[in-house]
Amino acid sequence: MNTPIAIIGTGLAGLSAAQALHAAGQTVQLFDKSRGSGGRLASKRSDAGSLDLGAQYFTARDRRFVEVVQQWQARGWVAEWDPQLYHYNENGLSPSPDEQVRWVGQPRMSAITRALLGALPVHFSCRITEVFRGEQHWTLLDAEGQSHGPFSSVIVATPAPQASGLLSAAPKLASAAASVIMEPVWAVALGFETALATDLEGCFVRGGPLDWVARNRSKPGRDSHLDTWVLHASNSWSRQHLDLDKEAVIERLHGAFAEMIGCPLPPPSFSLAHRWLYARPASAHEWGALADADLGLYACGDWCLSGRVEGAWLSGLEAARRLLEHRQ
Ligand code: FAD
Ligand code: NAI
Repeated sequence: MNTPIAIIGTGLAGLSAAQALHAAGQTVQLFDKSRGSGGRLASKRSDAGSLDLGAQYFTARDRRFVEVVQQWQARGWVAEWDPQLYHYNENGLSPSPDEQVRWVGQPRMSAITRALLGALPVHFSCRITEVFRGEQHWTLLDAEGQSHGPFSSVIVATPAPQASGLLSAAPKLASAAASVIMEPVWAVALGFETALATDLEGCFVRGGPLDWVARNRSKPGRDSHLDTWVLHASNSWSRQHLDLDKEAVIERLHGAFAEMIGCPLPPPSFSLAHRWLYARPASAHEWGALADADLGLYACGDWCLSGRVEGAWLSGLEAARRLLEHRQ
């Protein structure tokens, strides 16, 4: 058996790299600090059914991603979501239909990464704190003080602020990751006993605390006895209210929702708030992936490209490509 490659992070970027390496006959070992895969492509199981609190949907523009999404659709992992779209600004609420194809994981966002992970070996609830190289091989150290290895190469597939510390063996990579600013987002989910009297299913919001509103239950395969909604605060509001307690965040975003939705809003029978500290890179990059091929250290993630689901997948693929290229 060849010496395995370590991949830190089981979001879409890490799993895209893992799949490409596995398909090329390499052995991989994945690690994630969370209890499950998905990262920001996350769904929360709750009393109101499963709720997509992170990525809401994704588009496919790159030919390679278009092809892979078609395969995912054929396997039943994703489905098209064709919401009644609106936009809301200082002039109020207006329908905003378009022709864009939008995809969601089915029956929840995290279905995609769960399917991609399949039977690949993974350690969950394992936060890697150190990545270091001996004479020939790499060793990882986790937050419990346990070491893992030896590995022939390491791919760091975490958000940039968490990647920079893990890349210290390659200072150029570490400083590129450290230069990326990632913006926070407060997400709130609400559930109503009676369906709200609106046909709105998705809304781009400009101005005020909100940035995006979605009727979670309108996505394919989501079953809930409640009319469930997900609200995302804008980056600037989230930054300004980073340490507000969850109850206050729910109250403020519920208030902004009531103001924009244009129909009576009863008190929700279900609510929760989630803070994403590193939701999106402040700007896009064209790095593809970061690599020190001689050392065998790589980094990938949405922040190396467009800051979107598609960018995460393409970046993982690029990290795998560069690693395989070096082995030839
Ligand atoms: P992540 O998904 O962040 O994966 C990184 C993984 O690394 C995580 O699982 C984490 O637990 C793990 N990790 C971190 N540090 C460590 C460590 N030290 N040790 C072990 N594991 C570690 N994109 C779209 O295209 N459309 C959208 O509508 C959209 N909406 C969004 C809304 C929100 C609120 C957020 C937060 C993001 C949204 N995005 C959207 C962006 C999209 O979710 C991301 O681009 C994509 O999921 C990033 O994937 P990734 O693999 O690069 O990173
Ligand atoms: P997209 O093409 O649907 O959206 C891109 C942007 O175009 C939207 O943000 C919106 O401003 C505008 N837009 C698109 N359709 C519109 C319509 N019908 N009416 C009015 N405005 C419209 O999808 P893309 O490019 O794949 O981006 C995905 C989504 O992910 C975007 O909404 C983006 O803002 C969001 N995102 C959110 C993050 C977060 O942390 N909240 C992180 C990364 C992406």
